[in-house]
Amino acid sequence: MDILKTPKEMRAWRRAHPGSLGLTPTMGYLHDGHLALVRRSLAENEASAASIFVNPAQFGPNEDLDRYPRDEEGDLRALRELGVAAVYLPSVVDVYPEGYQTYVTVEGLSQGLEGASRPVHFRGVATVVTKLLNAVQPDRAYFGKKDAQQLRVIRRLVRDLDLPVEIVACDTVREADGLAMSSRNAYLSPEQRAAAVVLSQALHGAEERFRDGVWEAEALRTGVRAAVAAEPLAELDYVSVADSETLAEIEGEVQGTALLSMAVSFGPVRLIDNVTLGEGG
Ligand code: PAJ
Repeated sequence: MDILKTPKEMRAWRRAHPGSLGLTPTMGYLHDGHLALVRRSLAENEASAASIFVNPAQFGPNEDLDRYPRDEEGDLRALRELGVAAVYLPSVVDVYPEGYQTYVTVEGLSQGLEGASRPVHFRGVATVVTKLLNAVQPDRAYFGKKDAQQLRVIRRLVRDLDLPVEIVACDTVREADGLAMSSRNAYLSPEQRAAAVVLSQALHGAEERFRDGVWEAEALRTGVRAAVAAEPLAELDYVSVADSETLAEIEGEVQGTALLSMAVSFGPVRLIDNVTLGEGG
């Protein structure tokens, strides 16, 4: 497995390995959710690359950049065992050299939901993903549906900037009790970890109500609010039932499919989760 540190080294590697290439961008501290993306990439391409870069541009001033969990050695071991051919592992100055001043902004899609409480987040994500795609030049890039708004922002940027890459969306991988896997789960105390099952349970409850004929978006949001309110350690940031493409909040009944998403805080730890309502008819 080759480890490439700079955009120049990465591009030279790509020129020397011209077959079909899949890329899984990550911020490291890899768990089974990340590895599911990597496995899919390995199955669908002649070779696979992963990137590990904790991207300062997508963290707000009061967010967890400094204490974001890291395990470079463990990550590289896991990627090597799976059969990844190349890992792009740039440092902050390789990606943002002195004097850096160019950013990619996806306007409408970045504004609501996660963007409402994290104003610079998607500008940072869109910028770094553009740069990772430019450095690695994959044919396909793999992203998780767990970060539903991020996935839509990236699809839009690839379309709007005519980037020559196929974006592949992968299902959310969950712990046995339903909690979506996340590097940030490591921050939870045992009590908070037990309480965090409220996210997937609330979403599951709403899915069932939707299947039983509750199509009114506000009724679905109210049900999720009540489920979270019943968990004393959980504080709801938002619950949304939105158009699955534009992410515009739905008033009235859900027609076709909708994205039901939520963010919940457990003390300083903020978790997100989502499901798509009405998928499969
Ligand atoms: P990170 O949080 O490390 O996630 C990397 C990729 O793994 C993302 O596409 C994310 O959606 C996916 N992922 C995370 N948890 C998952 C789970 N439980 N099931 C399935 N997929 C999961 O997302 C980022 O990094 C960054 O914003 C990045 C895109 C790398 C840009 O910096």
